[in-house]
Amino acid sequence: MIRIPFWRPTNSITTICFLNEALSKDTAAMAKGCDAVCVFVNDNVDSETISTLKDQNVKLITLRCAGFNNIDLAAAKKNNIAVARVPAYSPYAVAEYTVGLLLAVNRKINRAWMRVRLDNFSLEGLLGRDLHGKVVGIVGTGRIGSLVAKAFKQGFGCKVVASDVKKNPEVEKMGIPYLKFEDLLKESDIVCLHCPMTEETHHIINKKTIKLFKKGAILVNTSRGGLTDPEALVEAIENEYLGALAMDVYEDEKDLFFRNLSNYIVKDALFQRLTAFPNVLCTGHQAFSLRKLSMLLPTQRCRKLQTLRKEKLTKSARLLKFGYPWDKSWFFVQFS
Ligand SMILES: NC(=O)c1ccc[n+]([C@@H]2O[C@H](COP(=O)([O-])OP(=O)(O)OC[C@H]3O[C@@H](n4cnc5c(N)ncnc54)[C@H](O)[C@@H]3O)[C@@H](O)[C@H]2O)c1
Repeated sequence: MIRIPFWRPTNSITTICFLNEALSKDTAAMAKGCDAVCVFVNDNVDSETISTLKDQNVKLITLRCAGFNNIDLAAAKKNNIAVARVPAYSPYAVAEYTVGLLLAVNRKINRAWMRVRLDNFSLEGLLGRDLHGKVVGIVGTGRIGSLVAKAFKQGFGCKVVASDVKKNPEVEKMGIPYLKFEDLLKESDIVCLHCPMTEETHHIINKKTIKLFKKGAILVNTSRGGLTDPEALVEAIENEYLGALAMDVYEDEKDLFFRNLSNYIVKDALFQRLTAFPNVLCTGHQAFSLRKLSMLLPTQRCRKLQTLRKEKLTKSARLLKFGYPWDKSWFFVQFS
């Protein structure tokens, strides 16, 4: 645990404690004496965790992310613990990153970069395909998906098709047709996942649906790892149903991402196998990560903390102006 002493104007927060451990039922007791915990995508805030937080008199669970699939909201409500999330990211951050990942994996920029570092300037195996005229399927056309659709349609001259449980009029205005999910997979050269992780979307890419892809298609997932079954991905790459895979998220990423494991043996054999393929490009959940975000998120969370102060639950909320390290899994706050 790292305790960081902060400058203390009147009524300010006295201590922020950063922990390497993820928040779970086993670690929640560490929040003893704190008013709030701040968590990220891979902390497990289930009902047992929340019950332990309640026992520690925690009043606020604040998320430094938009997705809240890891929080049991009903349990939080039952225990009278407020939950605050980031209401809106820059959707451009994730949309631009999605396009970047696709360009990199399609033109093999990651492989070329590694070669050049070894003074290997051979182009063998680096053939790519142009995007112009290709069919891009967008699954989930909300804030991020609609921007990705626009970039491919208007920027690259692709034919874009979409699939969503709710049609977005802005997307329809661009002349983008909505298809059934299965039809989208059959028609697309590139499939980008931008729907949230829910019970309905868990493993939407599985051993059955992956066989619907056009041979050699590219799959890009910057949404949530749980949308894809990793075993199906390995099988699809090995059997060349998929031409390439770019992923910023992984189903069991909570034991891997946001920390430096380079001095350890990573024991997730499936992850190791998947990321060892030359046509798989994986990054560690960084699509959201912009410089300006490190200021934006704290400000948004401060607002919630200030509300709590007004409600006399806490005295101050200066905590987050200092930013925080992304690689710390969660932290808790003691108010003065
Ligand atoms: N990699 C990152 O750093 C990062 C950052 C932010 C968000 N995300 C992910 O991106 C996702 C999308 O974010 P957003 O801001 O565009 O969300 P959004 O709520 O604006 O859009 C999600 C869209 O998915 C649709 N959807 C819901 N269920 C669906 C289903 N079964 N099939 C098809 N579509 C379905 C919704 O109707 C909506 O249009 C988030 O859920 C989050 O998981 C990732």
